[in-house]
Amino acid sequence: MRVLSIMGTRPEAIKMAPVIREMESRPTVFESRVCVTGQHREMLDQVLTVWGIAPDHDLAVMRPGQTLSHVASAVIERLGQVLEEVEPDTVLVQGDTTTAMAATLAAFHHGIPVGHIEAGLRTYDMSRPFPEEANRRIIGLLASVHFAPTAEAALNLVREGSSADRVVITGNTVIDAFLQTAALPLDLARTPLAAICPGGLPPEREIVLVTCHRRENFGRGLTDICAAVAELARERPHLLFVLPVHPNPQVRGVVHATLGHLPNVALLPPLEYQPLVWLLQRCSFLITDSGGLQEEATAVGRPVLVLRESTERPEGVAAGTAELVGSDRERILKHARLLLDDPAVYQRMSRRTYPYGDGTAAARIADHLCGAGDAPRRAPLDEQAYEGAPALDAAALTPVG
Ligand code: UD1
Ligand code: UDP
Repeated sequence: MRVLSIMGTRPEAIKMAPVIREMESRPTVFESRVCVTGQHREMLDQVLTVWGIAPDHDLAVMRPGQTLSHVASAVIERLGQVLEEVEPDTVLVQGDTTTAMAATLAAFHHGIPVGHIEAGLRTYDMSRPFPEEANRRIIGLLASVHFAPTAEAALNLVREGSSADRVVITGNTVIDAFLQTAALPLDLARTPLAAICPGGLPPEREIVLVTCHRRENFGRGLTDICAAVAELARERPHLLFVLPVHPNPQVRGVVHATLGHLPNVALLPPLEYQPLVWLLQRCSFLITDSGGLQEEATAVGRPVLVLRESTERPEGVAAGTAELVGSDRERILKHARLLLDDPAVYQRMSRRTYPYGDGTAAARIADHLCGAGDAPRRAPLDEQAYEGAPALDAAALTPVG
C-alpha cells in the first residue's frame, strides 16, 4: 500500500511523525512517501530533523507574512504534479491547517482517498479558531476515513452524517510523540534553555510556560495577553515566564515590544520538540492558545489556562485540568492568581489524565489502513515515566453509530 503523508507545519509534523515511523516499521505492508508543503520552514525542518524524516517532495510554499490564500493556492497548484508522479493508494493529512485542507482538496480532485488524522474536532464557530474550524469541516466532508482522537470527536462526525464505519477512534498521535520523546535522554546544556539561567536552573525556581499564535488573537487580544503576562511577571519576580515565540511577524513584534525588557521573562526562539517536552514537565502551569499543548499538558498533569473563548478540545476542560480564559487581561490575571495562591485549585488542576490517548494511536491508524484488525501493537512507550497510564476506554473504541 503506497501512502503519501502530506504536512506543512510544526504541529502536523509532530503528530504525523509517529504514524510515518509506524508505517516504516512495516515495510512489507506499506510504501511510505512524504510530501511537505513547507507552509512552515524552520519550525517544520526542526521536527523533521529530530525524527529523521527526509521528505520525498517539498513544495516550499512559505513566504514571510504569507496570506491564507497564497498557501492554499500554492499547495493545490504544486501538489497536483506530486500526486500524478507518486500515484498513492491513500493520502494522509493531519489536523486543520491550510496545508491539510488544500492537500485534501487536491487529492479529491485526483480521485485519491484521504485519511484524516485528528478528525472530528469542532467548536461549531467558524470564527474560532480561524480558519481552522472551516478547514477541518472541509476535510471532514471529503475524507474517506476519519481517525478521530476521542469518542467526542467521533460523535461529532457521525452527527454530521459521516458513516460510522468510516470513523475510527484512535487516540491522538501527539500523545505517542510526547511519550516517546519524554523517554529520551536530554542534554539541557545543548539547548536554548541553557541560556535562561546560566549555571543551571535552581529546582525551586517556578516556571510558567507561555505560547500564543492564533490568528483570532492578533491585535487587541495579543496585546492584552502580553499585558497580563507583564503584570504577573512584575507582581511575582520569583516566577520565570518562558515564551518560545512564534516567528510570525504579527506575533513576534508585539511580544518582544511588550515583554522583552522584563528580567523574569525569557523570550526564546521556537524550541525543538525535546526541550519543549522537558519544559512542559518542568513548568508549574501553562498559559497558551496552542492546540497541541492543551493535549500534551494532560499527559503530564500540568494545568492549562487556555487563551481562547472556546476550544475544540473540550476533554481537558471536562477533566478539570484546563480552564478557558480567553484573551481578556483581567480574566487571565484572575485565573493565574488562583493557580498561584490557592493550593487546592492548583492540586485539582494538576491531575494527570489521558483523555487524548494512551500513546498507541499511530499503531491503530496503521492497523486500520492495512486492514490488520487486531494485529499486535506496540505497547505504550511510557513504562517508566508514565506507569499507570490507563489504556483507552474499551467502550470508546467501539465504532460509534
Ligand atoms: C499555522 C496554522 C495553524 C497552526 C500553526 C502552528 C493555518 C491557517 N494555520 O499558523 O493552524 O496552529 O501553523 O504553529 O494553517 N513563519 C516563519 N517560519 C516558520 C513558520 C512560520 O518565519 O517556520 C512565519 C512566516 O512569516 C509565515 C508566518 O509565520 O508567513 C505565518 O505562518 P502560517 O503557517 O501562515 O501561520 P501560522 O500562524 O504559523
Ligand atoms: N512546540 C514545540 N516547540 C515550541 C512550541 C511548541 O515543539 O517552541 C510543540 C508543542 O509541544 C506541540 C506543538 O508544537 O506539540 C504545537 O504547535 P503550535 O502551538 O504551533 O500549533 P497548534 O497545536 O496550536 O496547532
